[in-house]
Amino acid sequence: MSKRWFQAHQRDTWRRQARSKGYRARSAFKLKQIQEKFSLIREGDLVLDVGSHPGGWTQVSVEETGPNGLVIGIDLLASAPVEGAQMVIGDVTEKTSQDTILDLLQTGVKVDGTSLPPVEEGETRLFNTIVSDISPRLTGQYDRDQAISLELVAMVFDFTLPLLSPGGAFVTKIFQGTGIEGIVNAAKQRFSRVQRFSPDASRNSSSEVFLVCKNKLPRPKKGSRKTSVSQELDLHLESEGIIQQKESESENDVKSGFRRIPKKE
Ligand SMILES: C[S@@+](CC[C@H](N)C(=O)[O-])C[C@H]1O[C@@H](n2cnc3c(N)ncnc32)[C@H](O)[C@@H]1O
Repeated sequence: MSKRWFQAHQRDTWRRQARSKGYRARSAFKLKQIQEKFSLIREGDLVLDVGSHPGGWTQVSVEETGPNGLVIGIDLLASAPVEGAQMVIGDVTEKTSQDTILDLLQTGVKVDGTSLPPVEEGETRLFNTIVSDISPRLTGQYDRDQAISLELVAMVFDFTLPLLSPGGAFVTKIFQGTGIEGIVNAAKQRFSRVQRFSPDASRNSSSEVFLVCKNKLPRPKKGSRKTSVSQELDLHLESEGIIQQKESESENDVKSGFRRIPKKE
């Protein structure tokens, strides 16, 4: 029996199970297994699902939060509505998407027209849990895909952590390989517990692993108060000799796959 055949068979098994239980994607079982082990989402929680299309993780999040919670999903792609969740179409790394998410969170309006209790004046409502299964469009070149994915994950940390309440939990998919320690170390500066976990539903099928971060600290540990996760990842990659510091690095540069590509005008 070839390894490839076995992996395809495993994927089909989870896909069939997903279909029979009404989940849109087999990935739903990954979040279910993460939830079984770590109990990240509680009844009544406010949850952000990053990279939510087609909605498997959103469905699981809604099941876990129940009618008193609020789930907001965001993805570049439009998904069919998920009962009980607000779905935002957009790039999580863009300010307009963040504003939309923050707006939905503050008003607390759910798709069924009911609302969360209003927040006190001057207060900001924050998420209890952020779950991210985000993945860039894969090219099939593992090293490149892994590098781009790592940078995307760092950006998700930077863009969404301000929306997570102290004590909150964060889980993200990462692909094993070069530079992963840079992300793990940056996470340890911001959460009191950080663990890697491979759910059965993803074992044998890829090199993905989930980074489970619990108990967000009220502020990052010393040494990380003035740096972002993306900067800490870059510093790690520089220290490992994987990227070189560019003298003429400009604020208008965007990063892609550990190389800097000038932004188009
Ligand atoms: C593996 S899929 C998510 C599957 C989902 N968790 C589920 O259970 O149905 C990864 C998703 O990340 C999304 N994605 C990639 N880059 C993104 C970005 N910058 N902003 C928002 N979503 C993004 C992709 O469009 C894709 O739908």
